[in-house]
Amino acid sequence: MPHNPVTFDEAVALLRNGEVCAFATETVYGLGADATNSDAVLKIYQTKNRPRFNPLIAHCADLQMAQGIAEFDELALRLAALWPGALTLVLPLKSGVEISDLVTAGLDTIAVRVPGHFLARRLIAAAGKPLAAPSANPSGRLSPTSVEMVRTAFDDQVPVLDGGDCEKGVESTILSVIGGKVVQLRAGALAREDIERAAGIEIELAKSDMPVAAPGMLKSHYAPRAGLRLNAMTPNPGETYLGFGAHSGPEGALNLSPKGDLNEAARNLFAYLARLDATGTNAIAIAPIPDDGLGEAINDRLERAAAPQGEY
Ligand code: TXA
Ligand code: MG
Repeated sequence: MPHNPVTFDEAVALLRNGEVCAFATETVYGLGADATNSDAVLKIYQTKNRPRFNPLIAHCADLQMAQGIAEFDELALRLAALWPGALTLVLPLKSGVEISDLVTAGLDTIAVRVPGHFLARRLIAAAGKPLAAPSANPSGRLSPTSVEMVRTAFDDQVPVLDGGDCEKGVESTILSVIGGKVVQLRAGALAREDIERAAGIEIELAKSDMPVAAPGMLKSHYAPRAGLRLNAMTPNPGETYLGFGAHSGPEGALNLSPKGDLNEAARNLFAYLARLDATGTNAIAIAPIPDDGLGEAINDRLERAAAPQGEY
């Protein structure tokens, strides 16, 4: 690669030519490819070293593009009114559309999202096709929230369009909207309560025995190299502490949000875990995080990161 990050025009050319290119969204950086081109989508799996096919989110420039590939009922439209934003809707796939089976993993539903980041929308519009994009990290590793994290994760071998640091820092909230029911498949950067209030609807939580649960929600995911201990008031000997609010740990410890702001903590989460990993520590103890608002998504990611690895 001659130089990285790539320019906007280079990113568009890569995507139009069936290559992958990483780009910023407001949640995390995505590794994008033309969702209508199976060869291109395959390159996402190869680049991430993803060992099996999980369905991917099709990122659209606007509602109109999303309506070209998914069926929106009245409920879905009410939720789509929250776009652009950190909300992914799993909807019935429109029949006869030009979307690679590798994006849906052969399901008859598709996950769609119009990202909040203006550069992401401009890129999709210029590419002219929905972009399949999982987070831009090797499979099972931390999701990148800055251009530097993407470059490090792939040894600078993957082209990336610089869109600055991600404003949200955790992935989108995923809701399935099928048959008049709204089920949260993944907690994420838009808090469930806020969506319920804004859309005037009730959201059910996915139960583990539900057939619709997001297939990619593996237990071990988002993992730093170091082991994690959650809900730690103070570090044990040999542990590095990651604080939150008043639980600030020893002098000099990183704190996800000294003022106890969950939005700030979400924004810092993956970057701080990566920073602690880079120090070579083997054990990270993390302060308790309240479970309300974005705390639901933060705790979900932390529990996954703390789970034993290699569950594929
Ligand atoms: O914020 C985000 O959502 C980021 C940025 C790049 O947009 N993307 C992201 O993608 O987190 P990924 O691939 O890591 O997560 C997508 C999730 C997976 O858990 C997958 O199983 C689920 O969405 N999913 C995709 N299509 C689905 C479908 N048709 N039914 C159920 N779950 C689906
Ligand atoms: Mg991911």
